[in-house]
Amino acid sequence: IPVEPFDYVVFGGTGDLAERKLLPALYHRQLAGQLTEPTRIIGASRTPMTDDEYRQFTLAALKEHLKSEELEEAQVAKFLSRVFYVPVDAKADQGWDKLKAMLDSGKDIVRAFYLAVSPAIFGDIADKIRDHKLITKSTRIVVEKPIGRDLESAQILNDTIGKVFKEEQIFRIDHYLGKETVQNLMALRFANALYEPLWNSAHIDHVQITVAESVGLEGRVSYYDKAGALRDMVQNHILQLLCLVAMEAPNSMDAESVRDEKLKVLRSLKPVTNGNIEKFTVRGQYRAGASAGGPVKGYTEELEGPSDTETFVAIKAEIANWRWAGVPFYLRTGKRLANRVSEIVVSFKPIPHSIFDDGAGRIEANKLVIRLQPDEGVKQWLMIKDPGPGGMRLRHVSLDMSFAQAFDVRNADAYERLLMDVVRSNQTLFMRRDEVEAAWRWIDPILKGWEETGQKTQGYTAGTWGPSQAIALIERDGRTWHDAD
Ligand code: BG6
Repeated sequence: IPVEPFDYVVFGGTGDLAERKLLPALYHRQLAGQLTEPTRIIGASRTPMTDDEYRQFTLAALKEHLKSEELEEAQVAKFLSRVFYVPVDAKADQGWDKLKAMLDSGKDIVRAFYLAVSPAIFGDIADKIRDHKLITKSTRIVVEKPIGRDLESAQILNDTIGKVFKEEQIFRIDHYLGKETVQNLMALRFANALYEPLWNSAHIDHVQITVAESVGLEGRVSYYDKAGALRDMVQNHILQLLCLVAMEAPNSMDAESVRDEKLKVLRSLKPVTNGNIEKFTVRGQYRAGASAGGPVKGYTEELEGPSDTETFVAIKAEIANWRWAGVPFYLRTGKRLANRVSEIVVSFKPIPHSIFDDGAGRIEANKLVIRLQPDEGVKQWLMIKDPGPGGMRLRHVSLDMSFAQAFDVRNADAYERLLMDVVRSNQTLFMRRDEVEAAWRWIDPILKGWEETGQKTQGYTAGTWGPSQAIALIERDGRTWHDAD
């Protein structure tokens, strides 16, 4: 479905995010027929560059990040003809008049400002946009994480942007919400009658959320060492996943209904206190090991200096409400783990009584596994009888819905959906201010607790599933991590 024509102004247009994600995503949307005349993509940053030079940059980005068969000559030429560049300085007036003249020539079409820049200059850019009168009635602003490094800095950042833009114009991206399977979680829960009656503490034993990465620092040394896994992954992506699993049914897919329900979950998270922080959280940091078939350095060697920043975190989270009381949510994420795999495992309670004799084998609890990446899909684990006349032997097998096998379609990148939702002005998959702040309200005491109790990182060998303490965290409760291999 084509969307309205728009001007996308990408601040940080020559940066890594624009190069790796935004430009390729917009090109894909053009291939899908969604870019209509007179849509333009305007790169903006401090680097002096002409339109032509920026088109070269764009072309290189497309060549690097798309398959050669996707780069059809006419499509590429069309896309490049939509691309422009304006050098602007966030802290000086230079360049802004030119940007204004350019945008004003575009009639009254949707205008989106994407801040793919350090949050340190969000405020400067927002002020310049206001001062140079670039805001029309169809203007929106898109901001990327990190939105703060604690509650206070997040509030300051939100105030800074909020002084210039109204909440309904602000799109805070959490790219996990644009992932196909994450949206599917809502379909699974609310478009089927099967699960919802069982989706509570009477029938669910516990939930696991794993976001494991095999990559290390990827050159983001200074950002990552100041952030760590808790701020980088849990405050945003993992808590968003937790919300989608745990929320009540919203009354519609409308942005406010969905975000109201997610907010209630965030507010129901039981605070982790200094008294239980060591039992409920594990911090880890990778040491030298092997990953993707070769040797890799340890974190501090990659960093070239000492550090106690966590590259792994495991948490036992609890939700204090009627639906989830007594159902732990075990969360874990880390860099340089054994595999790149993200999944949500909903583990149901064991059957109350077995009618089978011991020879039938062990009866495993049912599990619903939602695989976000790679190999997106849904598996429902069940017990069945092993086929054959050899008597009643039971086996744990999965009903397997692999998206790649079931649907012959390309798996669109999360940014494709989200960039177009900005144009459509649909905020359902974006974080509202109060959500971001509620997430920090739960994260802050953990950060503070680690500092106050002096909880250190535990070493783990690169290419493994993290420190042994993370295994102990769940095994202490008589449960195990689902084997994510
Ligand atoms: C980002 C984090 O938000 O998400 C990165 O800053 C992480 O550290 C990335 O690698 C993971 O995203 P994806 O889509 O590759 O799972």
